[in-house]
Amino acid sequence: MAIAIMCSGGDAAGMNPAIKKFVDYVFKIGQEPYFIYDGLEGMIEGKIERATHEDVAGIVHLGGTILRSSRSKRFFEFEFRKKAFENLEKHNIDSLVVLGGDGSFRAMHQFYKDFSVPFVGIPATIDNDINATQYCLGVDTALNVIRDALDKIRDTASSFNRAFLVEVMGRDCGYLALMSAITSGAEICVIPEMEFKKQEHTARLRHEIKEGRRYILAVVSEGTKRSREVFDWLQDDVGIETRISILGHIQRGGNPTVQDRMMAYEFVITALNHLSVKKESAVMVGYKDGDFKLVDIEEVVSKPYEIPQKLLDDIKYLD
Ligand code: F6P
Repeated sequence: MAIAIMCSGGDAAGMNPAIKKFVDYVFKIGQEPYFIYDGLEGMIEGKIERATHEDVAGIVHLGGTILRSSRSKRFFEFEFRKKAFENLEKHNIDSLVVLGGDGSFRAMHQFYKDFSVPFVGIPATIDNDINATQYCLGVDTALNVIRDALDKIRDTASSFNRAFLVEVMGRDCGYLALMSAITSGAEICVIPEMEFKKQEHTARLRHEIKEGRRYILAVVSEGTKRSREVFDWLQDDVGIETRISILGHIQRGGNPTVQDRMMAYEFVITALNHLSVKKESAVMVGYKDGDFKLVDIEEVVSKPYEIPQKLLDDIKYLD
């Protein structure tokens, strides 16, 4: 029996430790591991190879993914999904482990409906925006990259009596911005999930500046598309010289943290234990309150992710 692994969508730290565990554990359970390179595009192109222990030696500490990834538009078309299926058949691959985000799981769900190829999804995206799991691989590493950047920006902000607006990734989800603002003690956090009470903040910050505040950190989630507006507000209404820093793809890089390596192992082991006994389903490994559970992919893609209310409430302590 052959099981293949691939990465799809945005890469995330933790993918390499997951790939390593996959190969080692597939051999352990007496099956054959395969790699699909370049994600769904690679599946269409037949970039499929049998994996060996040597392929995964010395990769556990590396960010990104040795399998590479892609965002495939062609996979939306049946003709190309069929091509991908035929490529799997050529290698007798009878199930898949897919590291990716909800866009990838939607695509795989369609593929499952077309050809009944069982798969287990492992949530892997720095955005932490997948329904039915509290954690996605790569999030802890990305948060630490952002924390490091914010710590450094604070050094210069405090030396210069300035405000800094730092825009972070997350697509439409404010999780990265929220967690970063809370843990870095930012004064302002703007995310799609919450109203930005500009007037209240103007009054508060002006008062604090009068009382001696020398600098301001504002974390803005890219999903709000409001960085320019917040910049102008800080500069013109709050009245403090402001600089803007868009962190960009640096947030996707970096060596996986201990947490991401551990989570990678747990996700993969749960996925493979499932596939070794039950080969006929389409599921994702979800993490909830310390447990790893299989969730039907239909349920995963049925709703958008929601940031827990408790975390949203924590934002009020920024004031
Ligand atoms: O989904 C991960 C992510 O990094 C988002 O936070 C960001 O909006 C997007 O991918 C960027 O995509 P790309 O790498 O294709 O520019």
